[in-house]
Amino acid sequence: MDWKSKIDMTRLPKHVAVIMDGNGRWAKEHGRPRVFGHRSGVKAVRETAEAAAEIGIEYVTLYAFSTENWNRPKYEVDALMTLLVSTLRKEIRTLNDNNIKLGAIGNLTELPKKCYKELIEAIDKTKHNTRMTMLLALNYSGRWEITNAVKKVASEVKAGNIDINDIDDDYFAKHLNTKNIPDPELLIRTSGESRVSNFLLWQLAYTEFAFLPIYWPDFRREHFYKSLVDFQNRERRFGKTSEQIT
Ligand code: IPE
Ligand code: IPE
Ligand code: MG
Repeated sequence: MDWKSKIDMTRLPKHVAVIMDGNGRWAKEHGRPRVFGHRSGVKAVRETAEAAAEIGIEYVTLYAFSTENWNRPKYEVDALMTLLVSTLRKEIRTLNDNNIKLGAIGNLTELPKKCYKELIEAIDKTKHNTRMTMLLALNYSGRWEITNAVKKVASEVKAGNIDINDIDDDYFAKHLNTKNIPDPELLIRTSGESRVSNFLLWQLAYTEFAFLPIYWPDFRREHFYKSLVDFQNRERRFGKTSEQIT
């Protein structure tokens, strides 16, 4: 099926978030170590970035490493960090060829020094690109992000910059890592798990979820396109009745 031709290009989501899950199980099924699965997932990242940029999505956020992922065996964490460094270095070219700006959310300064340095460099080398922004969620946790925002808002109150009664959704959201970025309209999670795993807890309030029964290393453009078609066939009611929408 040619899913791309079925997408209504006038009703694209501005922001698609992706939980790239299932690398370990994919590797196990292929009789290989988990790390092989992570390496094989890079191609899916490239395909997603290219497909999204090509059709005109403005933001893609990829969940690459959660704060909970530090609890994995040390060799796996080390391999993921090494992969991050080598991938950032290699893929700057892909990003520039596709006019994609790189960004990141999460507790970035607590990443290993080498990763942080490579990340900042990649962000800098792609900062003039305008077609799409690709955000990597690294050392990210939704609860961490919200708690951090609460601290920032509290200090604004303490400094007398805002009255408690004037704090609203918009004001609060400006203190998140995603300030000035629209909430994702669509979240895709691969691997068959139907959970959020501490991703974008605030931003997903009205997001449509697509849980795909395939592992991340098998994710290709067609899966991305089909998810967009499915998304466009849904009715987003935001609390209203169906009659009010149509
Ligand atoms: C996603 O794949 C990658 C990261 C979380 C870094 P997993 O490594 O979680 O693979 P599974 O879910 O164990 O199969
Ligand atoms: C979520 O996947 C985090 C990333 C994809 C980076 P996990 O594999 O860590 O999530 P759980 O533990 O299955 O919920
Ligand atoms: Mg997983």
